[in-house]
Amino acid sequence: MPTLQINQLNKTYSNGIEALQNINLNIGPGLFGLLGPNGAGKSSLMKIIAGLETASSGTIHFNETDILTDPHYIKQRLGFLPQDFGVYPNISALELLDYLAVLKGIPKAGRKEQVLALLQKVNLYDKRKQDVFSFSGGMRQRFGIAQALLGNPELILVDEPTAGLDPEERNRFNNLLSELGEQIIVVLSTHIVEDVKSLCTNMAILIQGELVAQGSPEDFIQTISGKIWRKTIDKKQLNEYKTAFSVLYTQLNAGQLTIRVLAEQQPAAGFEATEPLLEDIYFSNLRNSNSHA
Ligand SMILES: Nc1ncnc2c1ncn2[C@@H]1O[C@H](COP(=O)(O)OP(=O)(O)OP(=O)(O)O)[C@@H](O)[C@H]1O
Ligand SMILES: [Mg+2]
Repeated sequence: MPTLQINQLNKTYSNGIEALQNINLNIGPGLFGLLGPNGAGKSSLMKIIAGLETASSGTIHFNETDILTDPHYIKQRLGFLPQDFGVYPNISALELLDYLAVLKGIPKAGRKEQVLALLQKVNLYDKRKQDVFSFSGGMRQRFGIAQALLGNPELILVDEPTAGLDPEERNRFNNLLSELGEQIIVVLSTHIVEDVKSLCTNMAILIQGELVAQGSPEDFIQTISGKIWRKTIDKKQLNEYKTAFSVLYTQLNAGQLTIRVLAEQQPAAGFEATEPLLEDIYFSNLRNSNSHA
């Protein structure tokens, strides 16, 4: 079974930004969610794993091979859909995927078959003769997955793939990831809590270069069971409540504002206990990290 082990990984860019600080992660088969806000270091981590950026210190092992000293090993086993995959020329999906297959060193024998099978897999077979340039956002992302799957990788990295997709495409894309996660390691970076909750068996939260939590979404939720309280308030009172309580986040529903608070006991009269959500964990970590900054 493939494993990805990251130990004491640090990345400081030449401008002094510490994008990753002492990252330790152990990732096995399945869908792994890397959840974090803008600037957390998600793309930096993925680029380092993919060998497109250097680490400042630390080690990364894939199947026991040190890939920072032997990048060739991972290149043969990796597929990557970068956040800024911007290759959409005026040629057909079939031609482009075949071209990318050549670049990836797929042998001629069987290449055409593999390319066609991948287009089937991502549901673009019927559009194979259409220019990728004319594809919608969702189709482009599915094409992006097809290119990441060239050469049967054991690990694929997908960096914020559903940003900008409509709900139907997002769902379709997520189903595809979920299917892939049954066979290989899929690391998905995102700031959409919902995607991690519904898809990932394991996850980590990355904020300002630091891993603040890791585990399964269920375990996370378990830790705050019975500690989430909500109250519907007048919008004008929000600042008052924010001063008095540690408000995790607010939900606006049909003009009504509900606040959610993490507390061992009922914070005050009028608060009711409510089902904990993964969002509560994410926002409480974001809150802690902001208050330390
Ligand atoms: N090439 C670079 N040179 C200098 N600083 C960089 C470079 N790339 C990223 N950074 C900085 O490193 C930090 C982490 O950036 P990164 O792109 O890894 O975050 P991210 O989690 O992918 O964010 P987003 O969700 O916006 O894509 C940010 O402060 C960013 O400005
Ligand atoms: Mg990014």
